[in-house]
Amino acid sequence: MDKLLSVDGLKTHFFLKRGVVKAVDGVSFALAAGETLGLIGESGSGKTVTGLSILGLPPRPAGRIVAGSIRLDGVELVGLSERTLASEIRGRKIAMISQDPMSSLNPVFTVGSQVAAPIRAHGLARGRSAMDLAIDELARVRVPSATERAGNYPHQFSGGMRQRVVAAMAIACKPRLLIADEPTSALDVTIQVQFMDLIESIQAETGAGLLFVTHDLGVAASLCHRIAVMYAGQIVESADVRTLYANPAHPYTQGLLESLPKLGARQSRLSSIKGTPPDPLSLPDGCAFHPRCPHATDRCRQQAPPSIDLGDGQRASCWLLENA
Ligand SMILES: Nc1ncnc2c1ncn2[C@@H]1O[C@H](COP(=O)(O)OP(=O)(O)O)[C@@H](O)[C@H]1O
Ligand SMILES: [Mg+2]
Repeated sequence: MDKLLSVDGLKTHFFLKRGVVKAVDGVSFALAAGETLGLIGESGSGKTVTGLSILGLPPRPAGRIVAGSIRLDGVELVGLSERTLASEIRGRKIAMISQDPMSSLNPVFTVGSQVAAPIRAHGLARGRSAMDLAIDELARVRVPSATERAGNYPHQFSGGMRQRVVAAMAIACKPRLLIADEPTSALDVTIQVQFMDLIESIQAETGAGLLFVTHDLGVAASLCHRIAVMYAGQIVESADVRTLYANPAHPYTQGLLESLPKLGARQSRLSSIKGTPPDPLSLPDGCAFHPRCPHATDRCRQQAPPSIDLGDGQRASCWLLENA
């Protein structure tokens, strides 16, 4: 089957005075239309930089895509000019719902005009009819009284409603791929749940692929079909969601899952992974996880493990699995 999105060997590095940060270092995954892939991992593992790279926006000036391929519907995006990315890809075929709705909204324009802006910019409609489409999108994300609310400014909305407006902007041009980067982390728990339901129904309705970035395994479990676990710029394990939660293969994934509070389990305290994520400017030799891994051997300290196919669509990068 032809995938909607194929990322192969992606490397996005930051060239700093102090050295090179290999924020994304050889990431490969694929996503089908209508599928939700969860990209999970601790803070600093490279999730956001992966998403920004797909949008053609590696953080400037230090960040650069140095290797790899990103294909959307078979079209290579790496190497496209900024002009083509801006006019044909970003906001049109790939859209992002970011963590902080205020950074995506301009305080001095009405919400309706901001949702209409990408519709006009990409030539889907003009003038009044662009505003009508914007109102439709606001209604689709369940902003009550969308027609009247379109004339309000961002500060007149609650945090949860602002996040819906950001979602309406993202889906306004019917993108093929949605990237949601920790979209609920600024919201209260009940509002989070509502927003996740909304994302799920938008995706079912539009058939878009969804790359869902989160550090929250609970949220990922409820929304995603497949999960890719990132550590220090690499995907260390990927599997369909049931397999990953039932049979995590990589010690890092196992540690992440053990640190999840379990319903009904009598746990006196949360276990969690020992140690801290590595300094991105001086990653350990061998497997980047070895200093925190309870099973590390000499080989783990010296050689980076290969990605091992465990069957049923599960892969993990760990020497322990080599002959398992
Ligand atoms: N603008 C930047 N300049 C330099 N380094 C950056 C920049 N943005 C991110 N990084 C580095 O890239 C790595 C991955 O960051 P990020 O993708 O934001 O992690 P995550 O989203 O998983 O928390 C981190 O080590 C971070 O310090
Ligand atoms: Mg992030």
